Amino acid sequence: MEQMTGSTADRIEALRKKYGKDLVILGHHYQLDEVVQHVDIVGDSLELARRIPEIEARNIVFCGVYFMAESACLLARPGQKIFLPDHSADCAMARMAKAADVEKVLEKLSATGRKIVPLAYVNSSLAVKAVVGRFGGAVCTSSNAKVMLEWAFSQGDAVLFLPDRNLGRNTANALGIPAEQQVEIDAAGTMLDSDEVKNARLLLWPGCCPIHERLMKPEMVDEFHKHFPGCRVLVHPECTPDVVGRCDGAGSTAFLIKEAEKAAEAALEPALCIGTEFHLVHRLMERYADRINIIPLAQATCPDMEKVDAASLLATLEQLEQGVNEVTVEEALKAPARDSLVRMLENCR
Ligand code: 13P
Ligand code: SF4
Repeated sequence: MEQMTGSTADRIEALRKKYGKDLVILGHHYQLDEVVQHVDIVGDSLELARRIPEIEARNIVFCGVYFMAESACLLARPGQKIFLPDHSADCAMARMAKAADVEKVLEKLSATGRKIVPLAYVNSSLAVKAVVGRFGGAVCTSSNAKVMLEWAFSQGDAVLFLPDRNLGRNTANALGIPAEQQVEIDAAGTMLDSDEVKNARLLLWPGCCPIHERLMKPEMVDEFHKHFPGCRVLVHPECTPDVVGRCDGAGSTAFLIKEAEKAAEAALEPALCIGTEFHLVHRLMERYADRINIIPLAQATCPDMEKVDAASLLATLEQLEQGVNEVTVEEALKAPARDSLVRMLENCR
């Protein structure tokens, strides 16, 4: 991992001091260490969204990916500015659901007379959240997917979960929804007339996180269990149901961090395997190196999260007053997208 140069870190700290109460820096757990060391609040998607409304600073620099900064724009106070140090830091999964496709599919599904409630993983664009809001749906994160899926079932005849088929299936499995009631659809919506779709309780958008789906495999879990009998494998629920089914637990980044901390404190297990983005796992490996052997399921990094680095953070802070790297959202999308986010925050106080 690249070592932070003293001068970049010093300049960032000098600018933080200069802006004082006018600046808050937020960072997701997947950010590089060279960024995390400068953030005021580090958290998972839910925690970061929850903290925005309490922030009074005029400037919020969000170190994460684009959809997170867009959500921050929705929850910010009037006059507050949101910055993302690299606007090309998008999320591969969010790109797999286009608002126009989601809208078309929801229109077709609703035309059958069934009430379909859309539930969008927070890893989706603002335009998708606006469509979801207009159709009476809500947003969820990996921390509250279970609560929100139960809520969505209570609101209609069936749920369209998007974009992550894996989080959708893993959450439905945890709620005991039979596999035959979970049906994956195609983004073009060509098979929506089938009896399978008409009878399903849960419709899954065909999206995924390439890092968790393609790089973390069931045989890796078996391999760890073979070498460390009795030791646990914990993964993020963006992993496939095949992987999650073999593991000893699954949950958000905040859950994985808490479990690592508890395991290190108890010092009962010689090893703990964690399956999620490698920058976070590496931080846990170093933090608890003297107490527990934390092993990554795969050394998989998120190329989008990596785009925000100390250099782009510094450049953003240096040009804050010129508004460089500010994120703005289309006015017409704000109200419906905010509705979908607020439904989540109200259901998960
Ligand atoms: P969390 O909601 O657990 O922070 O995860 C976000 C994410 O992008 C995982 O890949
Ligand atoms: Fe998106 Fe996957 Fe990166 Fe998370 S790890 S931000 S889901 S691409």
